[in-house]
Amino acid sequence: MYSKKLVENIENELEALKGAGKFKVERELEGAQGAEVNIAGKKVLMFASNNYLGLANHPEIIKASKEAVDKYGFGLSSVRFIAGTETIHKTLEKKLAEFLGTEDAILYSTNFMANLGFFATMTNEAFGDETSHLDAIYSDELNHASIIDAFKLCKKENVVKRIYPHGDIPTLEQMLEEDKSKNYRFKIIVTDGVFSMEGYLANLPEIKKLAEKYEALLFVDDAHAVGVLGKTGAGTPEYYDLHGKIDILSGTFGKALGGAIGGYIAGKAEIVELLRQKSRTYLFSNSLPPSVVMASIKALDLLKEELELLNKVIENSEYFREEVKKLGFNVLEGNHPIVPVMLSDAGLTQKVSRKLLDNGLYVVGLWFPVVPEGAARLRFQISAAHTKGQIDQAIEIMREVGKEMKII
Ligand SMILES: Cc1ncc(COP(=O)(O)O)c(C=O)c1O
Repeated sequence: MYSKKLVENIENELEALKGAGKFKVERELEGAQGAEVNIAGKKVLMFASNNYLGLANHPEIIKASKEAVDKYGFGLSSVRFIAGTETIHKTLEKKLAEFLGTEDAILYSTNFMANLGFFATMTNEAFGDETSHLDAIYSDELNHASIIDAFKLCKKENVVKRIYPHGDIPTLEQMLEEDKSKNYRFKIIVTDGVFSMEGYLANLPEIKKLAEKYEALLFVDDAHAVGVLGKTGAGTPEYYDLHGKIDILSGTFGKALGGAIGGYIAGKAEIVELLRQKSRTYLFSNSLPPSVVMASIKALDLLKEELELLNKVIENSEYFREEVKKLGFNVLEGNHPIVPVMLSDAGLTQKVSRKLLDNGLYVVGLWFPVVPEGAARLRFQISAAHTKGQIDQAIEIMREVGKEMKII
């Protein structure tokens, strides 16, 4: 029963979230996502979305999605294996695999679902004549929430989970060395390709070497890198000259590649087939709508046709990073369009982000517990859609607010 006591407890929980600075306020956009957006009747510069290539509102993406609605309708009212697979789903999977240099790929409703589906299937299932098995997962402590939650779906009796400190290759190696004699069925090393709070890249070359040395599978969640890094936008593996050499990749269509929704796993053909047959977040959840599928195909085509978008997002990011540094702000070094400006203090960060918005610049402030205590920051995200004029405008707003708040 929904008792008075329960209501009270829920209300207390919400109050506690507010008290701890964890309560999230959803700001309402009034119109399309883009370099500029409307909020509360006012135009502001958007520096907080994952719209890295500006495809969220690209005319070709909109056209593809409208054509899909005309041709295939709105929804498919089915999961993939019953009545929810159109030829275009297969086309997108094939194109994705080609683009990422993998043998095959499988679509999920989101990257979150893809990660849940992969780990639960790979570790809980017994294959062939196996009667029992034990696997091991080695995970960077800052991996995305979807990876952490994926582990919760892995049964304790089937999997040993080991968390290594962020980016700590020697500790990862030590763990693998300790486990050498343990006869695990699989060892899986899992890392984000790009860590979204800092824009830092995983050290894939070193992690790959360890995966080879200790015969582990390497899983890279490249959500923030596909459509951003590498000479064709194929992500961190391509950036590091490891294109086609990572065992399993997961990613999203919800960021650079159109920004709507949709995720995937790409990798070895038999793993992809296993997921198609056994993965519950794939089997028992609806197939992606045609408009999203056609727009995602278009997003992959646009990456090839408009390579300048990739150059532009990197160029814009470098320019922004350098100019903000010149103003005297403490900026984390990096080569990704995530540009964190460190303010340290949570209260100050809240005030500054509010002031920036009042002045026409939308940027997200992050503080404990989302980032470590004392490491509060503004997280800027740069897009190919930003013009130089808009970036200059953002920098000018940073200068004014920075001076007013005595940060610079
Ligand atoms: C590393 C990483 N993995 C997975 C996700 C989830 O992606 P999706 O929105 O497609 O579920 C995100 C998005 O925040 C992410 O940053």
